Amino acid sequence: MKILIVGSGGREHAIAVSAAGSPRVDKIYCAPGNAGIGQVAECVPITAMEFDALAAFAKEHEVDFTIIGMDDPLAGGIVDVFEAEGLKVFGPRKNAAVLEGSKAFSKDLMKKYKIPTAAYETFDDPNKALTYLETAKMPIVLKADGLALGKGVLICNTLEEAKAGVKEIMEDKKFGEAGSRMVVEEFMTGREVSVLSFVDGKTIKIMSSAQDHKRAQDGDQGLNTGGMGTFSPSPFYTDEIDAFCKKYIYQPTVDAMAAEGRPYVGVIFFGLMLTEDGPKVLEYNARFGDPEAQVVLPRMKNDMIDVMEACVDGRLDEIDLQFEENAAVCVVLASEGYPVSYEKGFPITGLDAFDSRDDYYCFHAGTACKDGQIVTNGGRVLGVTAKGSDLKEARKKAYEAVEWVKFDNKYMRHDIGKAIEDVEP
Ligand code: AMP
Ligand code: GLY
Repeated sequence: MKILIVGSGGREHAIAVSAAGSPRVDKIYCAPGNAGIGQVAECVPITAMEFDALAAFAKEHEVDFTIIGMDDPLAGGIVDVFEAEGLKVFGPRKNAAVLEGSKAFSKDLMKKYKIPTAAYETFDDPNKALTYLETAKMPIVLKADGLALGKGVLICNTLEEAKAGVKEIMEDKKFGEAGSRMVVEEFMTGREVSVLSFVDGKTIKIMSSAQDHKRAQDGDQGLNTGGMGTFSPSPFYTDEIDAFCKKYIYQPTVDAMAAEGRPYVGVIFFGLMLTEDGPKVLEYNARFGDPEAQVVLPRMKNDMIDVMEACVDGRLDEIDLQFEENAAVCVVLASEGYPVSYEKGFPITGLDAFDSRDDYYCFHAGTACKDGQIVTNGGRVLGVTAKGSDLKEARKKAYEAVEWVKFDNKYMRHDIGKAIEDVEP
């Protein structure tokens, strides 16, 4: 089989490594890919938003199956373009990817179908939002409606902060057109869990849970980032919580999308908050998480291509989804200064250390190849993942492995997975 993967981050590298592990796969293309993905796939210089060029490439090279990794092309309707050309493609159509693409849509869906989430109001007019905030309880959460690289969320502790937030999102358009509409949401407290799932339109199968660390600095300080590290499974995601979510969140979401005439095929990522009143949905994403994929996929026992194909063919009920009885931790190696400003182009050494070692993975996020040398090329540079018999061992191994890799301005958090000590002292 010939596979095409669309995207260029650590998530797409993890998808490429899983695809390479399938005995059914003979050839992998990745558009546009990165230096690490280039070791398992042929990188194609077409960007993720060039839908027609991508579909033409898939036809010309007789690609059997395309996997869309990123949110922007999904929200833009890449799946519809591929389907119209008769190409087999994994991911939601445009009318279903809106589950991530519009926070107002997803909040209204949850309200209509009684799926637990934070109370909210939606505003198109900044003045109405300001009036509402005058009497609202603080802290409060402001969210730009559209896609904003995971950064369109402001948590405001005071009315002054909230007013400044409305200006930033709706008037200054800090997150672009994503901020023409805004959701104002009740602030929730609790532990966050990421649950990824495969969906075929009617059936949903849950992957092993994970937890991300979104803030830039240790102790959850600093700015929100795309994600600084993950662990899987989450010891806080108990069987009881799983049973609750299956009944009140996961299947109801899939059924709601079908009932709305937007059957969902692909991955749904449930961002959950485990509150005192039970689990509630923080957000939906229409794709694998990054860096959640880097700890979940290496633990999956099934052939990933079999599972994805079953989703597209509407026979996911035939699949027995299984994960290894172990744990994984991923530590992101970033460029000092991320997520604000950082330098690129520094040579990376020590990557060979991963070649001969099972249980260790070095997923490339922002890397490039320059004159035969792999160099830094982004804020998040690499995701170093290790598997262990339990979270403690995986964490120890991941923090050993981050020392093998060297580049100027290397930055990481030192407390990825530290929360597990709360349950496993
Ligand atoms: P989102 O992009 O919606 O996942 O929001 C990014 C981050 O903001 C989440 O991972 C949470 O840490 C935080 N957040 C979002 N919504 C809320 C909320 N209603 N209450 C508390 N924190 C939130
Ligand atoms: N790690 C969070 C995300 O992928 O949105």
